[in-house]
Amino acid sequence: MREKLTFLGIETSCDETAASVVREKADGTGEILSNIVSSQIEEHKEFGGVVPEIAARAHVEKIEFIINEALKESNLNFHNIDGIAATAGPGLIVCLTVGLNIGKAIAGSLEKPFIAVNHLEGHALSPKINNNIKFPYLLLLISGGHTQFLEVNGINNYKRLGTTIDDALGEAFDKTAKLLGIEFPGGPKIEEWAKKGDENYFKLPKPILKKGGCNLSFAGLKTAALRTSKELKNQEEKYHLAASFQKTINEILYEKTKVAMDQFLMNKKNIEKTFVIAGGVAANLKIRENLTKLSKEKSFSSIFPPINLCSDNAAMIAWAGIERFKINLIDTLKFPSKARWPLDESAPILKGPGIKL
Ligand code: KG4
Ligand code: ZN
Repeated sequence: MREKLTFLGIETSCDETAASVVREKADGTGEILSNIVSSQIEEHKEFGGVVPEIAARAHVEKIEFIINEALKESNLNFHNIDGIAATAGPGLIVCLTVGLNIGKAIAGSLEKPFIAVNHLEGHALSPKINNNIKFPYLLLLISGGHTQFLEVNGINNYKRLGTTIDDALGEAFDKTAKLLGIEFPGGPKIEEWAKKGDENYFKLPKPILKKGGCNLSFAGLKTAALRTSKELKNQEEKYHLAASFQKTINEILYEKTKVAMDQFLMNKKNIEKTFVIAGGVAANLKIRENLTKLSKEKSFSSIFPPINLCSDNAAMIAWAGIERFKINLIDTLKFPSKARWPLDESAPILKGPGIKL
């Protein structure tokens, strides 16, 4: 029998510098031997968002240390690693290049296989580290940069069912939080404030709720939150806006997920109905509760990766590397970093003015 694979993963696509060592287990899932993430929240706080040059400099300063920590914690050294996987996109080029180049350098000098990983495939396959899930499954990816429903048919085999036509969901949380005077990233604080507010206090719009299939839109909601925020009289009302915003998001996700589930089941027989929710926003407990309830109603089993695997990390990159290596998807050291790299290349671009749904 072949030896179980052990991969080093490297992630620097945005504002997390991360490295991880993951090993295959006999049952087909993975064991995370180390998972080191250094977040740059402090560096970007005063700017209200990620500043690419600051992020890139922080990656350069930290990446070697983070990789060494990941190896140390796994009790392994470079010679015990079977391959190196690094995120090659999508993301900020100045950031991606840092992790990609060091990954290539390690792979080149050790003469080990190199895998260039799509960050979104990392998120898409992350639930398979802890669960034996069969393809196909339905994925909702909700993060600061992406909001998509995807049919995951296999490694390197995705069909996009729906996407946001404007802001990503995490972006909508962060921008609304900013209006309320909350520092970046504001998602977790909105969730906290929402607990203290009345979710029925403000009525906010749900753009394209009944049209556009399972495509989503949050820009109108954000504009309404902006208008409302200007009229708030006290802290109580700020809590009410946080609660009303979160409730509206949940109503949108409920309706759109229903459509996505029906679309996913079309022309499929005898499949296990699995719904995976990943990305940083999947940490939100109200969203988890809402989508778990819907899954039960629609006879889907819902899977939320643990919170440290929902937000950006390198364990998911190492794991995607292992899965790709097993089907011979190995890359050369010439692989470029890519700012844009959709999982479903055939899906049309649905962002920008004049989109017709
Ligand atoms: O996946 P992630 O860590 O990084 C990206 O790839 O974007 O997602 C970060 C996003 C941020 O927008 C953050 O505000 C949001 O996830 N987020 C949350 C919560 N925790 C993180 N949004 C709502 N509720 C939360 N509890
Ligand atoms: Zn991400």
